[in-house]
Amino acid sequence: MGKILVTGGAGFIGSHTVVELQNDGREVVVLDNLSNSSEKSLERVEAITGKKVPFYKADILDRDALEDIFSKEDIDAVIHFAGLKAVGESVAKPWEYYENNIAGTLTLVDVMRKHGCKNIIFSSSATVYGNPAFIPITEECPKGVCTNPYGWTKSMLEQILSDIQKADNEWNVILLRYFNPIGAHKSGTMGENPNGIPNNLMPFITQVAVGKRDHLNVFGNDYDTPDGTGVRDYIHVVDLAIGHVKALNKIEENAGLKIYNLGTGHGYSVLDIVKNFEEATGVKVPYEIAPRRPGDIATCYADASLAKKELGWEAKYGIKEMCEDSWRWQKNNPNGY
Ligand code: NAD
Ligand code: UFG
Repeated sequence: MGKILVTGGAGFIGSHTVVELQNDGREVVVLDNLSNSSEKSLERVEAITGKKVPFYKADILDRDALEDIFSKEDIDAVIHFAGLKAVGESVAKPWEYYENNIAGTLTLVDVMRKHGCKNIIFSSSATVYGNPAFIPITEECPKGVCTNPYGWTKSMLEQILSDIQKADNEWNVILLRYFNPIGAHKSGTMGENPNGIPNNLMPFITQVAVGKRDHLNVFGNDYDTPDGTGVRDYIHVVDLAIGHVKALNKIEENAGLKIYNLGTGHGYSVLDIVKNFEEATGVKVPYEIAPRRPGDIATCYADASLAKKELGWEAKYGIKEMCEDSWRWQKNNPNGY
């Protein structure tokens, strides 16, 4: 296989995936508009792998820029992370989310097919299950009603890419439904770098731990869960990254259309995470119970056995390492990149 284009490769999951791809001997090209990331993440990748990361600062909506990249580089497959992902912001700015995520992906896919590149791995999300019909969630679980435009972009893009593959079976499309990625590279030099107040639990916890925020708000303790707080399937970002390397191997077997959950199969509550973080790091995380956050569900965790069976992939890091690694990154880089 020729080169792998990683869109959104300067971001959290993308940058960790570039490390694993390069470690696996793949030739990688990164495209990112840096709207939610820093080019420094790629310098850190280079320091870890000892390999250059060819980088194009470009937007997936910019057809000419995409044409230029596909003309210059011999690209055989795309791992497509580029997208806007803030749930709350998507409610306030639906047009921007549909434009960026959907129009951007349509432009990307059109340029890909014009250049004979019909292999794509797409970052989807457990959010497409809505309030899941059953737990643990298998890929057979019906897609549900999303509670925000961000979620709908994922759900719609899954449909769009599936329809494109059905119409032209030269396409190989793998939809990866991520559960809750946390953790960071073991080196402590790469990690999640949110702008402003973090939306997600782990970056909020690490910012409390490092003294940037005084306490964590726990969004609701009256859910139908063992301790009343929301339960999620947290997965180490390096495990997730390795999942993409395995999915690429599957693409090379002419996979057609495939859908995989990438999770650990374990559910942890918000208070479980606080406790595990304190135990793993020795740092206290003060918290207060706050009202439920609109759109949140009680419980979401994966049955990830299909990915094990068909990709030979399974998460290897447990919650302790996820907490330790998130903390090492935050402690060493209190202001991010
Ligand atoms: P991230 O914001 O760190 O990475 C996304 C990258 O895409 C950023 O570097 C951003 O600058 C870039 N980007 C955005 N719009 C672009 C555009 N129009 N053109 C070029 N680049 C653009 O987010 P992440 O957590 O690494 O997520 C990667 C993907 O995985 C996203 O598609 C996200 O929706 C999906 N996902 C993330 C989670 C999660 O909890 N982090 C869960 C499920 C799915
Ligand atoms: N939570 C808090 N306090 C916070 C932040 C979160 O109590 O400050 C709770 C939430 O209520 C939830 C849990 O911690 O119970 C996890 O919340 P996150 O925001 O970290 O993650 P979500 O499960 O809500 O959403 C994540 C991604 C979405 C994705 C979704 C499903 O952020 O992009 O998983 O895959 F769509």
